[in-house]
Amino acid sequence: MPGGASRSARCSTVRSGFPHQDRPARIAQYARNFEFFGAPVGLFVSIDRSMGPPQWSDLGGFIQTVLLLARAHGLHGCAQEAWTHWHKTVPPFLNLPGDHILFCGIALGFGDEDAAVNRWRAPRQGADQFATFRGFAESDMPRSLMTRGAGMQSQPGDG
Ligand SMILES: Cc1cc2nc3c(=O)[nH]c(=O)nc-3n(C[C@H](O)[C@H](O)[C@H](O)COP(=O)(O)O)c2cc1C
Repeated sequence: MPGGASRSARCSTVRSGFPHQDRPARIAQYARNFEFFGAPVGLFVSIDRSMGPPQWSDLGGFIQTVLLLARAHGLHGCAQEAWTHWHKTVPPFLNLPGDHILFCGIALGFGDEDAAVNRWRAPRQGADQFATFRGFAESDMPRSLMTRGAGMQSQPGDG
């Protein structure tokens, strides 16, 4: 989607896909956060300031559910913590209650699946890299769960 199709929402992080040394390209891509990557719908998520870490993690789960539901309806979404850079500007613009803190934005739309950046996949670690399994024989573990190579399929610009 970074190609800029107006209906697209799938985002890319600054980390994902743009060569680290290409700083102007990374900055330009990062700036697209603030136009919701061209998505037709932008959501803002806020939370009451009195809430603590447990509720912040609950909210993360809620956001994940919103994103999964969007996929179930054929939409693409992108959670955007980047909006918190504008925490002094967005809340008054939205008339957020003073006891609410801006948590993130979400771009929502239809991703441009042809865009190179949207074909890029973040490398994934196997589950054994971040979880400990006890009471299971290694031979019983699904191989697909275990250490595997980077899932990188393409890079933006690969055409
Ligand atoms: C809480 C949260 C905040 C994120 N904030 C941003 C952001 O501000 N800008 C961005 O381009 N991507 C952001 N991302 C990453 C994208 O949403 C990412 O493309 C998406 O999580 C898919 O991840 P994947 O590349 O591992 O499949 C964020 C992800 C999460 C979970």
